[in-house]
Amino acid sequence: MTFRKRYTGLIDHYRDRLPVHDDTRIISLGEGNTPLIKLHNIPDTLEKDVDIYVKYEGLNPTGSFKDRGMTMAVTKAVEEGSKAIICASTGNTSASAAAYAARAGITAFVLIPDGKIAQGKLAQAMMEGAVVLQVNGNFDAGMRLVKEVAEHAPVTIVNSINPYRLQGQKTAAFEIIEELGRAPDYHCLPVGNAGNITAHWIGYSEYACADGDKVTDACAFCNGVCKFAGGSIVGARPKMVGYQASGSAPFMRGEMVDNPETVATAIRIGHPQSWDYAWKVREESDGWFDECTDEEILAAQKLLAEKEGIFCEPASAASLAGAMRDVNSGKIPENSCIVCTLTGHGLKDPDTAIKQSTRPVISIEAKMDQVKTAILDNLA
Ligand code: F0G
Repeated sequence: MTFRKRYTGLIDHYRDRLPVHDDTRIISLGEGNTPLIKLHNIPDTLEKDVDIYVKYEGLNPTGSFKDRGMTMAVTKAVEEGSKAIICASTGNTSASAAAYAARAGITAFVLIPDGKIAQGKLAQAMMEGAVVLQVNGNFDAGMRLVKEVAEHAPVTIVNSINPYRLQGQKTAAFEIIEELGRAPDYHCLPVGNAGNITAHWIGYSEYACADGDKVTDACAFCNGVCKFAGGSIVGARPKMVGYQASGSAPFMRGEMVDNPETVATAIRIGHPQSWDYAWKVREESDGWFDECTDEEILAAQKLLAEKEGIFCEPASAASLAGAMRDVNSGKIPENSCIVCTLTGHGLKDPDTAIKQSTRPVISIEAKMDQVKTAILDNLA
């Protein structure tokens, strides 16, 4: 009998493409290696024939894609002797930072917008022992404070402005290429700070470059920390498509938004930190930005759960909501191969899910006839 090698996280797996040394102490919770699931039922409801895959990043250890970046950021912070990390967050970054800090035995300070983060995320940060600072203001206000305080206090910022974050997150693109044997034609993501769309572009670009070459385009993104040195298996890169929530869509407005609002609290961001990178990604990949209303986002979240059994949080569903619209309109052409990133797990935000669920919960007595009646009434 042969045994599969134990998976020990993305730094171990992609060590040759990440800025770590042989003796670096790796802080990992086994992140990455998430499923790429081909949708079977939703494509049948569309007007064009396309293949849609979802990259279910909600299955990372803390339930979001942030773990890919956090394993790198915390590993490097510890290597550099840092005893504390800090971030502003709409929830998922704080949950991830708290977990990896706990694992490393250092302190996490997290600044979250008061009353505007999903309950699951708050529960995680609290359980994992972070110092939680609820800011009377939005994510952008918290981010401003974090940048300023890090200039004076002995804390390492682990928001995606930390270049190691994007290095970790680029591995999602590696996994997709390795599973499909090619890059998709379109890669659709929800966009908040635009770190993740940038990280994916770095990943795709590294794979697409010629053997032994340094990646010239993508290197502009990595602040010199990338150590990739070639190994091409694909020549093409996808068009990158970023969807924002209508009430928080600075890339659509062409300027920062001061009072962002959306039910998708994870992307309730008006001042994206990777503004310039994201425009460069759009230009280089020949992709686009678009927006989805809260209604479209929630409808896509529900459709995905009902038709495919996949539960993601509202922000994540923006990728599918936008992709479905662009397939139907013909902007994404027939026979395309599309990947949508589902950035976070549905269990992060049970309140929003229960609020929009239309399925009745049927209360019965503990009696067989009542169970039987319920079954007969509800058999499809
Ligand atoms: N989806 C989810 C579930 C997120 O939590 C975020 C960002 C995004 C999408 C957008 O990714 O910022 O790289 O464009 N959440 C951050 C946080 C801001 O604090 O958890 P981005």
